[in-house]
Amino acid sequence: MSNCAVFLSGGGSNFQALIDRKNSGDLHVDFTVCISNNSKAYGCERARKNGIPVVHLARGRFGSNEEYTARLLEVLSAHSVEMIVCAGYMKIIPAAVVEQYRNKILNIHPALLPSFGGKGMYGKRVHQAVLDHGAKVSGITVHLIDEQYDSGPIVLQECIPVPDTDDAESLAGRVLALEHAHYWRAVEAVAQNRLTITGRRVTGEL
Ligand code: GRF
Repeated sequence: MSNCAVFLSGGGSNFQALIDRKNSGDLHVDFTVCISNNSKAYGCERARKNGIPVVHLARGRFGSNEEYTARLLEVLSAHSVEMIVCAGYMKIIPAAVVEQYRNKILNIHPALLPSFGGKGMYGKRVHQAVLDHGAKVSGITVHLIDEQYDSGPIVLQECIPVPDTDDAESLAGRVLALEHAHYWRAVEAVAQNRLTITGRRVTGEL
């Protein structure tokens, strides 16, 4: 069983889907801490309801990046964290944390990377960009986190068609359902050490 931290900034519906998978016996991780930059995030409430400690950590409350990073590493160590799952986390993870947890930090993005990603591409903007581009498919990408936004090696992708009748809201709803259905598979694969990373290629059974 891997000890896992969840980083989130918002509603945490993906976190809830992971908790549900754990409760149904599909996912074998212990969520030992939930870390949020936003103390009002509903995802923090989901953690509390499930007996998972919540730590509010925002860069703005620290005098320097170094102090912030040191506190983050201290919290991860105090909760014996072995892997990190980002579930709607809107902040960049400090390089020292990425380094310490190399290939053990997952993120989910609501489109098919490397398209429609990068800084500022979140929420409805992603789906509107997909529609504006005229893409005929969209989907989800689960990737390992590196030092840039949405750029680490891809672990899992699933796609869905984009019918002519879609708007950003309808597309967002179907993509989110796809996220809930699949994110746990990548989390489980990392937790079970089933993945091999060679350059940008991630192989292994999901
Ligand atoms: C999801 O669409 C995810 O892909 C993105 O942020 C959103 C989080 O939604 N990274 P929720 O907070 O899990 O409901």
